[in-house]
Amino acid sequence: MTFEFVNSSFDMKSYFHIFFCFIILNSCSSNVKECDTRDAMVVSARKEASEIGLMMMKKGGNAFDAMIATELALAVVYPSAGNLGGGGFMVYRLSDGSVGSLDYREKAPIKATKKMFLNEINEIIPKSSTYGALSIGIPGTIAGIFRVHEKFGSLPIEEVFKPVIALANNGYKINNKQSERFKKYLPEIRKINSTNSMYSREYKAGDTIKNIQLANLLIRIMQNGPDEFYKGESSKKLIKFLKSKGSIISAKDLEKYKAIWRTPITFQYDDLKIISMPPPSSGGICINQIMKMIEPYDLKKLGHNSSDYIKLLVESFKRSYADRAVYMGDPDFNDIPYKKITNQNYLSKKMKQFSFQKPTPPHEIYSTNTEIKESLETTHYSIVDPFGNSVSATTTLNSSFGSKLFCDELGIFLNNQMNDFAIKSGHPNIYGLIGGEINSIQAEKRMLSSMSPTIIEKNNNFYMTLGTPGGSTIITSVIQTILNVHEFSMGMEESVNSPRFHHQLFPDVIKIEKNKFNDMLLIDLENDGYDLEIVTPYGRVDGILALEGCLEGGSDNRGNDYAIGF
Ligand code: DON
Repeated sequence: MTFEFVNSSFDMKSYFHIFFCFIILNSCSSNVKECDTRDAMVVSARKEASEIGLMMMKKGGNAFDAMIATELALAVVYPSAGNLGGGGFMVYRLSDGSVGSLDYREKAPIKATKKMFLNEINEIIPKSSTYGALSIGIPGTIAGIFRVHEKFGSLPIEEVFKPVIALANNGYKINNKQSERFKKYLPEIRKINSTNSMYSREYKAGDTIKNIQLANLLIRIMQNGPDEFYKGESSKKLIKFLKSKGSIISAKDLEKYKAIWRTPITFQYDDLKIISMPPPSSGGICINQIMKMIEPYDLKKLGHNSSDYIKLLVESFKRSYADRAVYMGDPDFNDIPYKKITNQNYLSKKMKQFSFQKPTPPHEIYSTNTEIKESLETTHYSIVDPFGNSVSATTTLNSSFGSKLFCDELGIFLNNQMNDFAIKSGHPNIYGLIGGEINSIQAEKRMLSSMSPTIIEKNNNFYMTLGTPGGSTIITSVIQTILNVHEFSMGMEESVNSPRFHHQLFPDVIKIEKNKFNDMLLIDLENDGYDLEIVTPYGRVDGILALEGCLEGGSDNRGNDYAIGF
């Protein structure tokens, strides 16, 4: 983990780590909870974004000012996922204990139709929902941050925007992981953008990228408010660009877009109160279902990442992902039977045929089959302010660089979130997730998400904020991180970096992170009837844990994520 205590150049985490390793020789990575900071913290995918977020709180601003600054800074320095051309979700908890959530998820355009990605014989038109103009949903990020500012912002919007504008003008240095990502997607980006488009060039690690058009767009938005993006000069530029690429998004679509405050999903697990994202995310409900399915078991006794622990979690994951496909979609278009599917009797019945001896066959849980996967990108950040407010936000273009369409005049990538709909009943999206009518495409509907920004309370106090990218794996990564802390007494850093596994019913395999589990355990699971798929490490959980009078950050070492505080 990278952690910085501001005004201090030495790496406090490493110092403590070496110290602990020295005195507790054989447990140097285990159950060490370290105070990083006392009052405030930001953990995000990039140092610059965490720093700008923290700067807001140093100026006297709150977690919401920091959220806006961090979200915008990620659009500058982390353009594969940070965005103005995408959307996201935010969960908050105020110092008085009140909670809420904001949905700034993309919507389908007015002209969208159920079969827009199918040909005359009902086959999916390859790549149509993932690449290029038709894959774009109406962006929600600018509406989202202004919703946040009008309700909770304490600094003038100029103070929040200015450092981000400076960052876009002065540029940021790309790191190794980013340069690899740019290289990987360059052919696709080049193919649908002009050759002199800024991301059609090849960048090496260490190069500085300035995004002057984005800086100018941010200046206009700062001066004219969200209408600039949805109704003003910039919206006209965006519509002109989208039309030229064959998009069905109209000026009316932008005009009508609204971010929506929603009541979060809250439930009790032992002495924790979990607060997470409601539909149109499946995150909160699935986390609720899964944690309630496993609550009756003694997880400590099973042992962290033991074969029985993995089996129990995997079987609960499978049952919840089946319900995800059947019952979850945009709540403004469907009645989601939340009470029914989180009822304890209902969940106990689902777990009735669970056995540590053998896997439950998928057809006994759900009756379709499917398989597909791809490489992905989203980003999460967590914030705690000195006033006791906390924020958990996940934002995305969906795939890396979204649709790959880059609007040069505005300096932004556009999302490919339309693929999160069930574009054909029972057909998997890029994460292998299936869905039916409830998540079918309809004009102005929001596509179902797995993003799970989550906050946890213990004894009526703030305890934890966390979330992660990772498509369908988001839900299971968030749950394992919570359990690592709560059941296995890990600190936040150890918890986010701990090995992870995943199952989503279809395909019927346990995804296991490569080189992180011992071979005997894997052989045991296979002998007991599980198919395994060894995958490269996935997700980047960024979280903050409250310790006695201080905070511990966890920034996932699978990325270049960065925690900073004071
Ligand atoms: O909303 C969703 O569930 C997806 N569009 C999130 C994509 C994602 O996490 C990609 N990240 N690696």
